[in-house]
Amino acid sequence: MNNVIDFINVNRDRYLEELKALLAIPSISALPAHAGDVKRCAEWCADEMRRIGLQNVKLIDTPGNPVVYGDWLGASGAPTILFYGHYDVQPVDPLELWESPPFEATVRDGEIYARGSADDKGQVFMHFKAVEAHMKQNGKLPVNIKFIIEGEEEVGSAHLDDFIRSHKSELAADVVVISDSGMFARGVPSICYGLRGLVYFQIDLRGSSTDLHSGSFGGALVNPGMALAQMLAQMKDRGGRIKIPGFYDDVVELKEEERQAWATLPYNEKKYKKDFGIPKLFGETGFTTLERTWARPTFEVNGLLSGFTGEGAKTVLPALAMAKVSMRLVPNQDPDKIAALFEAYVNDIAPKSVEVKVTRMHGGKPWMASYDNPFIQAAGRAIEKGFGRKPVFTREGGSIPVVSTFQEELGLPSVLFGVGLPDENAHAPNEKLDVSNFHNGIIASAVLYDEIART
Ligand code: BES
Ligand code: MN
Ligand code: MN
Repeated sequence: MNNVIDFINVNRDRYLEELKALLAIPSISALPAHAGDVKRCAEWCADEMRRIGLQNVKLIDTPGNPVVYGDWLGASGAPTILFYGHYDVQPVDPLELWESPPFEATVRDGEIYARGSADDKGQVFMHFKAVEAHMKQNGKLPVNIKFIIEGEEEVGSAHLDDFIRSHKSELAADVVVISDSGMFARGVPSICYGLRGLVYFQIDLRGSSTDLHSGSFGGALVNPGMALAQMLAQMKDRGGRIKIPGFYDDVVELKEEERQAWATLPYNEKKYKKDFGIPKLFGETGFTTLERTWARPTFEVNGLLSGFTGEGAKTVLPALAMAKVSMRLVPNQDPDKIAALFEAYVNDIAPKSVEVKVTRMHGGKPWMASYDNPFIQAAGRAIEKGFGRKPVFTREGGSIPVVSTFQEELGLPSVLFGVGLPDENAHAPNEKLDVSNFHNGIIASAVLYDEIART
């Protein structure tokens, strides 16, 4: 193992240069104009996977973007890892807020800035380099490994569940490894054992067939902007509790031992507020910030649009109002069931004087693992070797829809070992990845394969 770690240390600078090439491809899955780049990125990953010594590398078509597959199955008798990651990235707007171009990776103050650096190209690349180091030094891996890198995670992984169901035997493994989450804080590596789920909707209200003069018509009909605001105001009470009837029925309450463990984490509320410019925190009464974001469901407005929003003033009564809203879910809330409850509630509270259209968008199930499984223990040892410190156990507020599918369809536990930092601007301008976390992550990944081989 030491020769593998030496190799990684010697090749530090080369890894950054290679990662820059991957980060240069604008593989934005949400924007049809980038379909060619998404395809090109899949091909780049496939080429890289061949270069590092994986076999059977291919793009597997789906009705959407291809899944990149590659494996190395030469460790007979050893366990098999199914590695999952995504090569697609979020859009970059607002572009003017980026300090360097999003697809020209730039290193500043020990961070590499680019869209996809943390989420998720940089973290996938750690594993490519970990495999390469084993192959270059030993000509083999200590475990069997199958890589699937998808291109639709940031738009909800719509075709991935079918892909998994239709490739069950090819994907057979002992454990899933994913690096698509965060570290608890700088210097505090972590293993994530829970993710929230998601249901996402667009609500459209129409009050008239066209915008109207707000003097001539104001007062005669419902203003859809106002109606939407009133509807949204009925989603939560003043204590931050969601008012959709039945919403909390299946929520698994936090265990006392989790609450106690989380209370010991080095979390600094003052710094959190300062880092993100938050005047005062707000959330569900009776829970701490970590509990609110990791273990409690929430309802959020993701976007709002109605009427005149340009410079100056315009006296208009808008015909339309639109909101994008989503709910983060926790075990054992079911997205389909929550979606039905939400739709019923919207129809119930919508004034009869507007036309309402509710459109369901993407989502996924919540997930939680028991953290005494042997693979998680193996990851703990690997992380300690890479980062010089034992990891803490966390849950996260974000969602990776496929993790529950791995459990349900393939019966596989997942180990989530992520190296992103909370302030690394995933999905926002100036996304970045700490270069030393990237480097230590390569070492930890290489050691992880070794540790899993021994479970
Ligand atoms: N890597 C994130 C998920 C994540 C975020 C895990 C923070 C742990 C901490 C992933 O790429 C993501 O952004 N997922 C989306 C899923 C959605 C599009 C269905 C999310 O959470 O919004
Ligand atoms: Mn991600
Ligand atoms: Mn993401």
